[in-house]
Amino acid sequence: MMPYAHITGWGMAVPERVLTNLDLAAMIETDNEWIVSRTGISERRIAADGETSASLAAEAALKALEVARLKPANLDLIIVSTSSPEYIFPATACLVQDQIGATKAGAFDLSAACTGFIFALNMATQAIRAGSIHNALVIGSETLSRIVNWQDRGTCILFGDGAGAFVLQASEEPGGLISAVMRSDGSGGELLIIPGGGSRYPASEKTVREGLHYIQMNGREVFRFATRVMTQATEEALEKAKLKIEDVKLLIPHQANQRIIETAARNLEIPMERVVLNVGRYGNTSTASIPIATCEAIQDGRLTPGDRLVFVGFGAGLTWGAAVAIWTGSFPTKRRVRPARYRLLARLRSLLLRLVRRLEGLIWGNG
Ligand code: UT7
Repeated sequence: MMPYAHITGWGMAVPERVLTNLDLAAMIETDNEWIVSRTGISERRIAADGETSASLAAEAALKALEVARLKPANLDLIIVSTSSPEYIFPATACLVQDQIGATKAGAFDLSAACTGFIFALNMATQAIRAGSIHNALVIGSETLSRIVNWQDRGTCILFGDGAGAFVLQASEEPGGLISAVMRSDGSGGELLIIPGGGSRYPASEKTVREGLHYIQMNGREVFRFATRVMTQATEEALEKAKLKIEDVKLLIPHQANQRIIETAARNLEIPMERVVLNVGRYGNTSTASIPIATCEAIQDGRLTPGDRLVFVGFGAGLTWGAAVAIWTGSFPTKRRVRPARYRLLARLRSLLLRLVRRLEGLIWGNG
């Protein structure tokens, strides 16, 4: 029988530093009233100097593993969805693999902007359902504050930093992720883009001077696209799962803009009490927003095992998608795991591997 992919662990990590709309108004020509009325955002988190997409991802991952009571060494797969990776390569997922000591996991990054977490969830689910793996870690992590143009009031007011992670595990029990839709339309690629730093416009003095390494967005067009596809994708995913919107306990949308979420909820005829909304406190954390919103919904006691929920998102690409899940909660059986211990062991292991590589280099030569 085909195993099911259950969400058995969850965790989030956000930087401590809060940047309020008032702080922004002291930096650029904007005001709290405009930002709140157009977006619903009051504040966002900004990564400290030492914090990166990998460090936030690792923190969220260890919390998710603790909830799932799963040792990092038992992971088969790590997918990090991010638009602010640490490097073009190596993948941020490999840095996370090293930081948490997931010694047997394959790790790769997935690039689908704000929709990335849904795509990554579906990929991990399909690997579990096909029987090729048992345990997967799916992370959405962003440090968008590093790639936003702080002079551009059309974008810099929107984004924030943070990470969220899910552990997915195989079980014969029906449940977990039961349907998903993934869509894209590259003809709208230029509507939300970082043009510089890739192979088309490699980083140069000119690309930096022209600000091509920053997020560029046509806000109005993205807004129109978003309200349309959020409804469409949710309906398609529900149809695939043979469910109706009345069956859904919680809709967990990508947190980009309160007005987009409210419009989608209205079109879907789901009351806002059944929609998770926390964009006001974190801004748009791109692919991290759905797992962060999920963690907060659990913390607030809004999900119990057996509940049906929908994740829905949209973003650059253009991409959009939705997934329907039956909430499981953590498998109750196993002993506690201690994340801090694994992090320390992982650091020692990483140092040792680097040392061995250096010694081998000395013995065998570098050529
Ligand atoms: O994860 C996907 C990420 N992207 C999105 O979800 C973005 C979707 N789009 C949006 O959320 C909205 O389009 C924005 C919030 C970005 C902008 O809201 P809008 O209602 O579409 O505003 P607008 O761009 O049409 O601008 C309206 C006015 C303009 O002034 P004029 O030309 O009418 O005089 C802007 O210059 O508001 C002005 N404006 C601002 N004023 C104060 C633009 N940004 C600001 C600002 N503060 N930060």
